[in-house]
Amino acid sequence: MEKKSIAIDGPAGAGKSTLARQLARALGFLYVDTGAIYRTVALAVLRAGIATEDVGKVSQLLGTLDIRMDYGQDGEQRMFLSGEDVSKAIREHQVSGLASKVSAIPAVRDFLLDFQRRQAREHSVVMDGRDIGTVVLPEADVKIFLTAAPEARAKRRVLELRQRGQQAEFDTILRDIIQRDKQDEQRPIAPLRRAEDAALLDTTQLNLEQSLEALLQLVKEKINL
Ligand code: DC
Repeated sequence: MEKKSIAIDGPAGAGKSTLARQLARALGFLYVDTGAIYRTVALAVLRAGIATEDVGKVSQLLGTLDIRMDYGQDGEQRMFLSGEDVSKAIREHQVSGLASKVSAIPAVRDFLLDFQRRQAREHSVVMDGRDIGTVVLPEADVKIFLTAAPEARAKRRVLELRQRGQQAEFDTILRDIIQRDKQDEQRPIAPLRRAEDAALLDTTQLNLEQSLEALLQLVKEKINL
């Protein structure tokens, strides 16, 4: 059967990963969390003691990286760095900020482009990120730009972190979200923006169930399931 692809882009905390995962499950597609791949590169940069401003050194490091992606028995995407399962380590708050910085480096984006496209060649995917509909999979069957007000996103992030047993303070998270949006939107290469042919879904007033329903509706309008 021909592979189908659904691209979901949007800022941090819009509910992308939760919704993309659920959508993939409902459709029987593979869920690819591209942010996790950027986070893995960021963790490697951090562990190598390289400053993100040192583009030359970061670029050099890329050639030596052993990054692998796999799916556990639970169907969850796992990231491996030099054979070590770093799926949990890449969720640390510090890595979020670094991921946003390394993702602005052209060499990093080039390096990860093939990695991401390969997944969509081999499987029907729901892929989420910042530039999936614009750069990675411009020919995606369905493109969705998912967003929500910064305050709503911060509130969700705080809950999510607390559920994972991590410390989270609303004001700090909100400030970081606004800062990260700015960084992701203003970078010259592959900035976060809605593809012209992407449907806009604002989840500020929607709960998870309603958001998933709206997503499924958008998908059904575009592909025969
Ligand atoms: O979605 P996330 O928070 O896990 O993403 C981490 C960072 O990676 C985010 O600040 C932007 C960057 N990113 C990107 O530039 N392109 C993608 N396709 C996915 C993530």
